[in-house]
Amino acid sequence: MKPLPITQEIEQKLFFHNYSRFPIAVTHGEGVWLVSDNGIRYLDMIAGIGVNALGYGDKRLVHAISSQAAKLIHASNLFMMQTQFELADKLLSLSGLSKVFFANSGTEAIEAAMKMARKWAGLAGGENKKEVLSLSNCFHGRTYGAMSLTAKAKYLDGFDPLLPGTGMISFNDIEDLEEKVSDNTAAVFIEVIQGEGGIHKISQQFIDRLKELRLKYNFLIVADEIQAGCGRTGKFFSYMHVDADPDMVCLAKPLGGGLPLSAVLGSEKVADVLTYGNHGTTFGGNPVACAAGIAMINAIEEDQLMKHAENTGSLILDKLQKLATRHPQILDIRQYGLMIGITVNREAKYYVEKALQKHIVINATSQNVIRLLPPLTITFEEAQQCINALDEIFTEEAAG
Ligand SMILES: Cc1ncc(COP(=O)(O)O)c(C=O)c1O
Repeated sequence: MKPLPITQEIEQKLFFHNYSRFPIAVTHGEGVWLVSDNGIRYLDMIAGIGVNALGYGDKRLVHAISSQAAKLIHASNLFMMQTQFELADKLLSLSGLSKVFFANSGTEAIEAAMKMARKWAGLAGGENKKEVLSLSNCFHGRTYGAMSLTAKAKYLDGFDPLLPGTGMISFNDIEDLEEKVSDNTAAVFIEVIQGEGGIHKISQQFIDRLKELRLKYNFLIVADEIQAGCGRTGKFFSYMHVDADPDMVCLAKPLGGGLPLSAVLGSEKVADVLTYGNHGTTFGGNPVACAAGIAMINAIEEDQLMKHAENTGSLILDKLQKLATRHPQILDIRQYGLMIGITVNREAKYYVEKALQKHIVINATSQNVIRLLPPLTITFEEAQQCINALDEIFTEEAAG
């Protein structure tokens, strides 16, 4: 059978219409570059939506995946497996937490954490203690539980009714926090740095008050580290920037080095909440994905990529701030390691299309925010190419 041509027309025929894909078919990657089927190299400033921390073709990662695949691709959680043990041990030592549950995607980690939070709260405080809260402008995923915690109306439209017993606190609004939490609160889910929401950091005052209220009402703080975790912001967990002291942590995206893998980490407080048969997954903690996860974390440590993310990120910020003095289209810039948001004065989609024409892949989030989540391996010289392209685009736009 002849292979199908990879065109947008065929894409429309084959798939549900829930994605708006770039008009590019990619065949492979090299370092921080994606290569299309017609040989064009694109500087990848979004890394598979924050997944490819090591870029493309890291030999340690490829070796870990292929050698584990040759030994055992899947066996299920009916068995104990060495790579799962090793990755769990690593994550617990990095976080200081007590237990791990592996799943396959970010949204599944959130679902598992929600289930654990409700069960824990019911045991700790009775039938009414079931309320799960999140923060406005947040994003936690697309399954029903995670979606019920997610703020963006566009993602919810038409899918109601959502999960009952969920609610939202205004981001960084201490008065609203004090009003919303109570004895009935089971958990508050937070992104310390909101990704989809446009790269916004939670305030230290908000976190401090949240922790005080946790003491008063005995609820859980769950840190969604799915986008900001695994070293992207210069620390392994972004909650370390504000000492959020979470009871549970959700990880995904880069965790599996590009393979589907997520994790929920839990403190002693929730260590015994799940009992046999309470929760599970067929694929979660797949041995190949775990081998990739170990290689990914080892590479981050060996190559000091957290320090690199911090340094490169602040050099990028400096350059972007200089651009902002010449281009009034830039309204604000927020940078935490290699998690960068640029607020612009029109729909950010416009700049995504223009950048692609210059062979730079950036991404728009939250309507008017350009989001950069490059591989942690990016050099400043490579990032400079993106900054130069943005400079040209803003100049061309101004010239009409
Ligand atoms: C903070 C956050 N939580 C949850 C998710 C959902 O993860 P997944 O798409 O792997 O289900 C995402 C994905 O973008 C995210 O950024």
